[in-house]
Amino acid sequence: MTNYILSIDEGTTGIQASFFSMNDFSMHGNNKIEFPQIYPRPGLVEHNPNDIWETTLKAIKKSIELAQDSEKNFSISKVTAIGITNQRETCLAWNKKTGEIAGNAIVWQDRRTSEFCDSLKKNESLRKMILKKTGLVCDPYFSASKMRWMLEQYPKAKQWAHTGELALGTVDSYVIWKLTGGVSFVTDHTNASRTMLYNLHTGNYDQELMSLFSIPNNTLPEIKPSIGRFGVTKGIEGLPDGIPITGNLGDQQAALFGQNCVKTGEAKITFGTGAFLLMNTGENIVEADNGLLTTVAYSTPQKRVFALEGSAFIAGAAVQFLRDNFGWVKNSAESAELAMSYPRDEEVLFVPSLAGLGAPYWNPQAKGVLFGLTRGTQQSQIIRAVLESIAMQNVQLLRLMEEISEQKIIRVGVDGGASRNDFLMQLQADILQTILIRPSNIETTSLGAARAACIGVLEEDVTFIKSDIGKEFNSHMPEALANANLYRWLKAVDCVNQFYGS
Ligand code: G3P
Repeated sequence: MTNYILSIDEGTTGIQASFFSMNDFSMHGNNKIEFPQIYPRPGLVEHNPNDIWETTLKAIKKSIELAQDSEKNFSISKVTAIGITNQRETCLAWNKKTGEIAGNAIVWQDRRTSEFCDSLKKNESLRKMILKKTGLVCDPYFSASKMRWMLEQYPKAKQWAHTGELALGTVDSYVIWKLTGGVSFVTDHTNASRTMLYNLHTGNYDQELMSLFSIPNNTLPEIKPSIGRFGVTKGIEGLPDGIPITGNLGDQQAALFGQNCVKTGEAKITFGTGAFLLMNTGENIVEADNGLLTTVAYSTPQKRVFALEGSAFIAGAAVQFLRDNFGWVKNSAESAELAMSYPRDEEVLFVPSLAGLGAPYWNPQAKGVLFGLTRGTQQSQIIRAVLESIAMQNVQLLRLMEEISEQKIIRVGVDGGASRNDFLMQLQADILQTILIRPSNIETTSLGAARAACIGVLEEDVTFIKSDIGKEFNSHMPEALANANLYRWLKAVDCVNQFYGS
């Protein structure tokens, strides 16, 4: 008899639910439902928590229907456990007695607290203290300054803080609270490590950081191991009571886990709108002072495993830019065809800082720049340079990870929409000079949450799960040429960073 894990991915633009067989991790009933993005002003991004919850229920319902249609043996009574994964850093405030919402959730992309973060960063000893304790650069991306803003601006949040009814949490803790009928107010170490209130060294919230961001005690969820016991379902239409939630990780960490990167030196690249890169550094906290972030990769009741993280704001979005702004390509496949039609010539270089520069520069002012144009420059040459730039920035981040951790990357898993583009993956392997592995199921985020929940409910070790290799990409480029190409591109990106006054 096959049992199943329900995996729920609380993404930024939509919520995805699917069932994974506990026998072979085959996926059933996978569906994603989008929900409204709220943009009150440029730079501000919000979600209505009711949309998040209602869309979660719809996605679960749809998933059950689809799984029942496709799998004749499927029944909801065979669901053994639930795994949750979520857009990280996005946070919200609610009343833990009544469930009432204080206001909209503030999304990770939101920049409303830039000025406050800049004022903290100017103080060198505060900047260093934050980096040392949290592994994060002081930026509005993380939850702490957003939570502070909610406490100042949402009158109900302020009032509930006084009466002890306030819950401040990331999306995982809100959804778990709802799924357990208001019983479990919890999060996991991966999500906590993105709040900027979590001390990597102690594994708990830090009093000095809580005071810095004016976060009252007893408002934050209890931190649990990512693979462990988060509570059981209660009062959810369509789901039996008592299903345990036994896996919970932030989405990038879930993708790392779904790629089976459980050994030191294993890394993954998720090609979404931007690119998110994580490298497992084992039980060592690698302190990064080079613009990378240190974060928790996953935790079990016995141990915490850490990762280095780097993200580039633009990856798949660079192809969308060619499509939407110029109409040069219809999709990613066409961009590959056109790029291939022009032999590599080292002339045109693109720096894809269309939304500023992410790690390691953290320069929000930077703009995209094309280098090396002549009267003979062809459209296909520019398209090729745009695709190459996506690969180049990933190599830069992975090299920095190797440097700071003094650890060679042994395997790189790729996932996300643009990982379907074979041309881009080959280019990535060529410049990186390391084998890339694309699993047969690139829904590694949902898979990671399912795997965590499966291990959690069976109380197995993380090595219980085996890797899934769909296609391998080996480098075909001589090392000296790959390095020379990288060197030229790094010169270009440094130049852009300086031009836009880092
Ligand atoms: O840190 C932000 C990240 O977790 C968002 O992921 O896939 O929902 O855009 P995604």
